[in-house]
Amino acid sequence: MIDRRGLLASGVALLAASALGKSRGSGPFPTGFLWGAATAAHQVEGNNVNADLWLLETVKPTAFAEPSGDGVNSFELWETDLDLVKAMGLNAYRFSLEWARIEPVRGRFSVAMLDHYRRIIAGCHARGISPVVTFNHFTTPRWFAAAGGWLAPDAVELFARYCERAARHLADGIGHATTLNEPNLAGMLKGLLPAELLEIDQAMSAAGARASGSAEFLAGNALSVPDPEKMREILIAGHRVGRAAIKSVRPNLPVGVSLAMFDDQAAGKDSLRDAMREKYYGPWLRAVKGDDFLGVQNYERSVWTSSGKLPPPAGARTNAMGAEVYPPSLAGAVRYAHAATGLPIAVTEHGVGTDDDTLRAWLIPEALTELKVAIDEGVPVIGYLHWSLLDNFEWIFGYRIHFGLHSVDRQTFARTPKPSAAVLGSIARRNAV
Ligand code: BGC
Repeated sequence: MIDRRGLLASGVALLAASALGKSRGSGPFPTGFLWGAATAAHQVEGNNVNADLWLLETVKPTAFAEPSGDGVNSFELWETDLDLVKAMGLNAYRFSLEWARIEPVRGRFSVAMLDHYRRIIAGCHARGISPVVTFNHFTTPRWFAAAGGWLAPDAVELFARYCERAARHLADGIGHATTLNEPNLAGMLKGLLPAELLEIDQAMSAAGARASGSAEFLAGNALSVPDPEKMREILIAGHRVGRAAIKSVRPNLPVGVSLAMFDDQAAGKDSLRDAMREKYYGPWLRAVKGDDFLGVQNYERSVWTSSGKLPPPAGARTNAMGAEVYPPSLAGAVRYAHAATGLPIAVTEHGVGTDDDTLRAWLIPEALTELKVAIDEGVPVIGYLHWSLLDNFEWIFGYRIHFGLHSVDRQTFARTPKPSAAVLGSIARRNAV
């Protein structure tokens, strides 16, 4: 909800814009705005052999369409990737640290792997790119999952220890840090995903436990979690201790968390919208108060009636999964996230899974125009990081769904810019749509 001050500010902004003959959402974004693209370690690096999913991708049954294998070989080709970011004219790159590489065995930290990420951070600076670093993007070490994952009694302390160790090696070069990726949806997907998928996920976890000789195997992004409420409490505690650990090393480093947020809209009488907002984000939006910023990741809107979610309107443009592509959804989610927390917002993900790059090239300026309108209304937005720099391993869908601004040949690992990369790049260079 926008408060009265917000409404007044937006009215004034609109009047000022029309008096100057400007169109909605035109004009420069704030000075220092972060324009970037995003990736996550397990989705691009390849051969992440000590991670929970490396095992689950090959057990029987598995929910994964195919194993991650070589990824897009960003573990070796990270310099090429940074060159792509720079060539687009972007000034920020979001990537994640892989806990399973940094702590492949419980309590044993790899200096060589920490150095690897240190080189990426230095590589960003050498190219004028600000590193936006996620400490944990879904995957956890295999030993952590085998010990019960996030539901194990010492999970939070283990995460804090990892964050502290990684921060000691890396924090001085990081621009913005986030602790966890989309923890608000963990275990909360019942009702949003097909029931069969949740069943396969459970059977896959059981197969993972058998394969690792452990009593259980709970992966970092397990779809089906025995106790979602407990999981949420633990992840909120994980975010807090992770943040404190990073801050203990470098107090002035801005730290936040990235939440998955739809643009929730109400349709008709007794809409479920507010109840759904409470269910999916409420506790998190309260927990992040006091953070330096909030990461918002938006892909869709949800239109809620009194009985459920409406299907896409007739004639809507849709993504590869058949969901509606609705450009104003980003601004809608950002407005709500700010109104609920008072925090500056970083868009840490936004994009579309599609083989039709003209859809992406259309979405980017449309969504950014609406985002700029929200900024003109007074919503503090510090950056926009498009998901993703590259086509990559889209979790259970494998390499079949494409979110990249660049395509990747999976034999040669050659990267090729799509036309949408130039669209985002020219907006970034102008700092205006
Ligand atoms: C995740 C990414 C994922 C993207 C597209 C986000 O939920 O953070 O890892 O690839 O959405 O589905």
